[in-house]
Amino acid sequence: MQSNTIRVSPVGATVGAEIAGVNLAEPLIDQAVATIRLTLADRGVVFFRDQTLRQDQHIALARQFGAININRFFAHVENYPEIALVVKEPRQTRNIGGGWHTDHSYDQIPAMGSMLYAREVPPTGGDTLFASMYAAYDALSDGLKQTLLGLRAVHSSRHVFGVARDDMKGRIGNAELATQDAVHPVVITHPDSGRKALYVNPGFTLRFDGWTDEESRPLLDLLYRHAARPEFTCRFAWRTGSMAFWDNRSTWHYALNDYQGERRLMHRITLEGCEIG
Ligand code: SIN
Repeated sequence: MQSNTIRVSPVGATVGAEIAGVNLAEPLIDQAVATIRLTLADRGVVFFRDQTLRQDQHIALARQFGAININRFFAHVENYPEIALVVKEPRQTRNIGGGWHTDHSYDQIPAMGSMLYAREVPPTGGDTLFASMYAAYDALSDGLKQTLLGLRAVHSSRHVFGVARDDMKGRIGNAELATQDAVHPVVITHPDSGRKALYVNPGFTLRFDGWTDEESRPLLDLLYRHAARPEFTCRFAWRTGSMAFWDNRSTWHYALNDYQGERRLMHRITLEGCEIG
């Protein structure tokens, strides 16, 4: 147990906060759990520096925030199916998560979020961008907000995980398990903060429900350009021992692939979510 003073500092203007004064390797006191939960609901992603965690401690930490989702597609750490490997070896050119997306929107009950822990980082590059879907929604015109409030969108895993790719061999698999399609409101009310967030993403959203792909494309593209505006984002530069804990309902993320020839090794635990609407 620990009782250090917790300090929270915003990172971007609309998204992200760094939390200091917490040792994630030890069981957290209730006040620390509450501060992390509140900050996560408000800022969408929280960052911690200089943490030293064994795999079992990473799992114990995650369990303090919810049930663990065992990923169907990612390779996992040996003996720890709870921990997905997010790795890029020096010989590999493609990375995992190298485009704007929010995890698991293809599930009818999408995962709440993930805790990504940096075990090995390249000397430069390999940062992750986060974007606030609260800020994206808030900045839309009243007219477009009204239109979007009446829409739902179809999300799928098939086009991403259902295609076996040679350059992902050993990292992403089980293509036959990519059978998930889900329909969600385009604007959701966040279950913890009560704030509205835009809930479509370039990675997994296919179309508006009841619209064709062709009809959906121009409006989805407009929303994607809008939501990725730099003022709605923050950028996290990893160091070994850094941890990011993000909320999939209020953010997108994008892993930059600018470190060819270098190794980047991250351990990810994903937490189960709840019905969204
Ligand atoms: C992911 O999309 O889960 C990976 C993010 C990262 O590696 O920075």
